[in-house]
Amino acid sequence: MELDRDTENIEAEATREADAVSDSRALYELKMKFLGRMGKVTALLKGMREVAAELRPAFGKRVNELREALENMFAAREEVLKRKEMEAKLAEEKIDVTMHGKRRAAGTLHPVTRVKNRLIDIFAGMGFEVYEGPEIESEYYNFTALNTPADHPARDMQDTFYLTEEFLLRTQTSAGQIRVMEKKKPPIKVLSPGRVFRSDDDATHSPMFHQMEGLVVDKGITLCDLQGMLDEFAHVMFSETSKTRLRPSYFPFTEPSVEVDVSCAACGGKGCSLCKGTGWIEVLGAGMVNRRVLQNCGIDPDEYSGFAFGMGIERIAMLKYGINNIKLLTENDVRFLGQFKD
Ligand code: PHE
Repeated sequence: MELDRDTENIEAEATREADAVSDSRALYELKMKFLGRMGKVTALLKGMREVAAELRPAFGKRVNELREALENMFAAREEVLKRKEMEAKLAEEKIDVTMHGKRRAAGTLHPVTRVKNRLIDIFAGMGFEVYEGPEIESEYYNFTALNTPADHPARDMQDTFYLTEEFLLRTQTSAGQIRVMEKKKPPIKVLSPGRVFRSDDDATHSPMFHQMEGLVVDKGITLCDLQGMLDEFAHVMFSETSKTRLRPSYFPFTEPSVEVDVSCAACGGKGCSLCKGTGWIEVLGAGMVNRRVLQNCGIDPDEYSGFAFGMGIERIAMLKYGINNIKLLTENDVRFLGQFKD
């Protein structure tokens, strides 16, 4: 019978093509080619109309058998392909637990942050609290209350960035001294780190840099207390054998005022290129808080006395790490910054 030949041919063709297909997606398309709405098996059924009535039941049965045989064949083939695909996927995604992990480079703290943290550690160990004042200050806090009236020549010591007539970018963390003394009465022991701004720009000066201010006010405070604390600071920050010395200086808010030198750690005080042959390196300004400054803050200078000091954090970092240009500290070159890991 012709139909038998047709169905046999279709089954053989489908099986052959299904064997040749290598992925389940192509297999699905092939299945549609035979069993889909427009497929070959469906087309056979549609031809039923032309078959004589008495032959139709046998015809229908034959086509249904073919459909069933193809469905089974496709299902079996699909299982084989799916398993292969799964195996391939597993092989591809296999994790080699013995392989080295990817290393992510750890960042390091900026040298200025390191020195700042170290300074806070040193002085916190002596009982100082940290106070951070505002970067935008009024002229009053930055100058006037610090005994630097409008026409005072000391204002020329620091080239100031004015924002308005009244407000400016603070030129010194000393402004914070006033804010602290206005709020708190002695005993006072505060450390005030922060950014300061001056119109100044060369290898050792930057328009923005960091200072660390220290202020101690209590009964009977003397310059010896200041030097004692600074010795301790120099030992921890630079070297056990570091010494300090005070030289007379001038600041409007301290009286007497001093510049503080630390013996050169590079040559041990013998004299070298770093200390320009003197054996000493200037590290900070300091002094006994001027009586007028205490008065400005409502503290009785006959009852209390105090000392203050202010140092440039960049300067300490440059001395400690042997950095010769302050710009290196703001360029953010990781080859430079990566060297500070101690
Ligand atoms: N404020 C001074 C400066 O910026 C440093 C200083 C602070 C001096 C405290 C004396 C007392 O140069």
